[in-house]
Amino acid sequence: MAAPIVTINELGQHVGETVTVRGWLYQKRSSGKISFAVLRDGTGYLQGVLARSECDDDSFARFDQLTQESSFTMTGTVREEKRAPGGFEMGVQAITIVQIAAEYPISPKDHGPAFLMEHRHLWLRSSRQHAIMRVRNEIIMATRQFFYERNFVIIDTPILTGAIGETAQSLFETEYFDLGKAYLAQTGQLYVEAACVAHGRVYCFGPTFRAEKSKTRKHLNEFWMIEPEVAWADSDGNMKLQEEFVCYIVAWVLDKSRAELATLERDVAKLEAIRAPFPKITYDDAVTRLQKAGLPIQWGNDFGAPDEEKLMEEYERPLFVYDWPRVCKAFYMKQHPTRDDLVLCNDLLAPEGYGELIGGSQREDDHDRLLARIREQGLPEESYQWYLQLRKYGSVPHAGFGLGLERTVGWICGLDHVRETIPFARTLSRLYP
Ligand code: 4AD
Ligand code: MG
Repeated sequence: MAAPIVTINELGQHVGETVTVRGWLYQKRSSGKISFAVLRDGTGYLQGVLARSECDDDSFARFDQLTQESSFTMTGTVREEKRAPGGFEMGVQAITIVQIAAEYPISPKDHGPAFLMEHRHLWLRSSRQHAIMRVRNEIIMATRQFFYERNFVIIDTPILTGAIGETAQSLFETEYFDLGKAYLAQTGQLYVEAACVAHGRVYCFGPTFRAEKSKTRKHLNEFWMIEPEVAWADSDGNMKLQEEFVCYIVAWVLDKSRAELATLERDVAKLEAIRAPFPKITYDDAVTRLQKAGLPIQWGNDFGAPDEEKLMEEYERPLFVYDWPRVCKAFYMKQHPTRDDLVLCNDLLAPEGYGELIGGSQREDDHDRLLARIREQGLPEESYQWYLQLRKYGSVPHAGFGLGLERTVGWICGLDHVRETIPFARTLSRLYP
């Protein structure tokens, strides 16, 4: 009878049994009489021990052929082995080869980021990249659970859109049949605003696109955003939800991804320090503080990386910067009740120099003010008719935010660059692979 096929993470249930594992060669070594093949299968690493007494001669010959990343199977008995990664090893009886890999371009020696990104389709197999994708997966699962537990309804928003979501400066355009231009969504926000009136609490979670020509370690041209929208919420309530959400994600990853964080050599004490309440500062106060510290920022400007880094020097938790100047924010933000020059909004800045994780705001719910803002920014009024109508039929205060998934992954994993946080990054200089 053929041995059952199992995955490496299940080996604990098969100690003493004969099983087959399938995977790829990570490394091998031999000392004549005894040989070792380390196989990885995506769930873990398993050292196979080939001894002349246990293993057939043909399998020994096949072992010699195995190159790095060759695909093969090993059949043998599972033994507990405290010193082995994962705690088990296999006494191999037989090896079958599926494909002998050509000389693998990625070796343990240091490759530059350009080379690695050019080989991203292979680089994904490396242990660090494997760990990052697993943490990303957990952050996504945490997100789904967080909103499900709170009765938010998922609203999938369109990627092809007729109205500009954020600003006219960074749009990817395409011809859309006889209807003129379509834009790739910069945000799903306008659509979740419509849906929150139907359901109360909703969110979207999808890819968003920005044709920004920025070459920083925080910018991608395609990234994933989580955007809740809540009817009856104001700016303060919006910040509360952000705080709760970020704490939930961090706690989830600390619970589920200890092994991955260890692989990434992440200082988990920094993550364990992430607890409510998060500190808050107004934009006005932040600018004053930055100017006192000698930075050249002027009131009305958005923050640059040096401003964000300076501000965060004294915080180990994320920081809310709220009530920003109208001139540097999007058209849909609600005017401050007592200051004409401000809007009710916030950014949430991550510690350790990771920058803006979230942008959020209370939305302008007054029809005429919103129309004035659309005109002021020179946006095409016709394409916002439906959005303006939301302010005519039962308009209520509402608020929401967008959390950038890749920046969050980068921060939690402690990475230098956002390009490693997404399977296949799209940047100014990269559309391959
Ligand atoms: O501040 P942003 O532009 O906000 C919005 O799009 C709102 N419509 C969200 C809302 O209120 N529903 O973007 C939100 C977040 C940023 O804080 C950042 O984390 C991420 O999206 N982000 C980017 N991430 C990677 N690369 C880029 N080019 C990004 N631009 C924004
Ligand atoms: Mg922003």
